[in-house]
Amino acid sequence: MDLRDKPIGIFDSGVGGLTVVKQIQKLLPNEDLVYFGDTARVPYGTKSKEAIIRFSIQNAAFLLKSNIKFLVVACNSSSSYALPSLRRLFKIPIIGVIKPVVKQAVSSTANGCIGIIGTRATVSSLEYPKQIKRLRSDLKVKQAACPLFVPLAEEGWMRHKVTRQVALEYLSGFKRERIDTLILGCTHYPLLKSVIKDVMGKSVRLMDSAYYTALEIKSVLQQKDLSAKRKRAGTCKFFVSDEPEKFAKIGKGFLGRNLKSIKEGSADV
Ligand code: DGL
Repeated sequence: MDLRDKPIGIFDSGVGGLTVVKQIQKLLPNEDLVYFGDTARVPYGTKSKEAIIRFSIQNAAFLLKSNIKFLVVACNSSSSYALPSLRRLFKIPIIGVIKPVVKQAVSSTANGCIGIIGTRATVSSLEYPKQIKRLRSDLKVKQAACPLFVPLAEEGWMRHKVTRQVALEYLSGFKRERIDTLILGCTHYPLLKSVIKDVMGKSVRLMDSAYYTALEIKSVLQQKDLSAKRKRAGTCKFFVSDEPEKFAKIGKGFLGRNLKSIKEGSADV
């Protein structure tokens, strides 16, 4: 098989990475995808650096069995900690979700104040501020962990008053800091965009890491001459480590359509 027609592998701690799948399918409709959601061990955002690295290596090894040409780490918590280990161990191109959105945020801020929201793991890793400062050391960066956003998004409470109350609580600090750009540094947060926008006001630009990651994947595939050559629409196979039915049910809201072909697989090697 032509290397270019092999699938792209994508992993996440669970269902959240489907926001990345959605953007990839929009921009790269001919690519075949294989997705692994580690639903048995989700959430990663509350786990230690060591556990996140270990799980991420196992997830990547699982996807490599599907003969993938490219690996996407859709989980922000994994992208915060595991990329150096993954790149050391696996010799295929690997992309995380942090760098693409950071590049955009740095070039689009007008007042030089950028906010980041993510899981506790992502925020503690300081990976977003480090990457922003590497590009422009003069920028002001403020972060906040918003752990309750993950279960609220999975519950489908996108516009619920409780979600609004939680958002007010988490985001009030950003209002005082007068940020003009807010990075949604977690797979689940694009689903809560309208509540976050309401709380932050129109003057703050929300930047979705899923969208910019898909753009970056497209450009890297082109640069490396790895874009699919076939003409038919791409397929997507889903693997999860637990509860495929629950994944299908919640995943429908994340992907915006029904999920077919979900299999159970264990990454625990
Ligand atoms: N996928 C995770 C992330 O983007 C959110 C859910 C979790 O904590 O595992 O960080």
